[in-house]
Amino acid sequence: MTTSGHTVQEDCPAGDEAFTAMGGNPARIRDHLLFLSKFFRHGRRIASIWPSSRAMATASLRQVQWDCAQVIVELGAGTGPITEQISRRLPSHTRLISIERDRDFVHILRSRFAASPGVTIVHGDVSNLGDILRTQGLVRRHVDYFISGLATPSLPNATRTGMFKAIGQYLHPRGTFSNITEIPWYYLGYYRRFFHEVSFQLVPMNVPPGGVYHCRTPRRDVETNSAAALGAARPDSEAGRR
Ligand SMILES: C[S@@+](CC[C@H](N)C(=O)[O-])C[C@H]1O[C@@H](n2cnc3c(N)ncnc32)[C@H](O)[C@@H]1O
Repeated sequence: MTTSGHTVQEDCPAGDEAFTAMGGNPARIRDHLLFLSKFFRHGRRIASIWPSSRAMATASLRQVQWDCAQVIVELGAGTGPITEQISRRLPSHTRLISIERDRDFVHILRSRFAASPGVTIVHGDVSNLGDILRTQGLVRRHVDYFISGLATPSLPNATRTGMFKAIGQYLHPRGTFSNITEIPWYYLGYYRRFFHEVSFQLVPMNVPPGGVYHCRTPRRDVETNSAAALGAARPDSEAGRR
């Protein structure tokens, strides 16, 4: 990232990451296996078989201008691969609020990022995103970036509606909502129901290969768009996918 002034460890080849994930760090291996076992037990609630790769985490942060960001909110942090990339680059003037619903993942996140200044881990559900952000002391248009690891197209309608309403209220006018996916390009039309500007970035180095939808300028009529997006989401083909 040239704007961050940080080193480019994120450009390491996936092979290095696989080596680290499988052999270099027993705690990470445990986290990954927990993730896998939760996927087999809960399927769509976890939505992915394996945590995001470093390449995916880096891609999800492509829009972030680190020197001006004040508040970053992560949705569905899991075991923290994206949280880690954010916390590594987080400037002292920037807050990261990472929200996760699964209690075991929250436990992992809290111990993993206990010593990271500026990082707050919240155990919560994004259907209550507005309440969560208010409780964190945020006000309208206060969030510069929402970074989502959620399977947004597969979320229940009420959850998605609550989440996008809060995003519409809290996202800064020049801010971005970015959402990882395992289905390249397919949901461009889906995200265009919620945002005026949407682009897609391919990320081949991930298990499975996927990408990131980057979205700006939320549309206003969330309820109508959320109901209409239900058809576009094809939840039958989305089990276990984002
Ligand atoms: C596909 S995983 C992604 C995890 C991590 N961000 C990554 O990239 O590896 C989705 C995560 O979202 C969490 N999640 C699903 N629904 C949620 C909700 N309604 N509110 C908060 N978190 C949720 C799941 O528990 C899971 O950890």
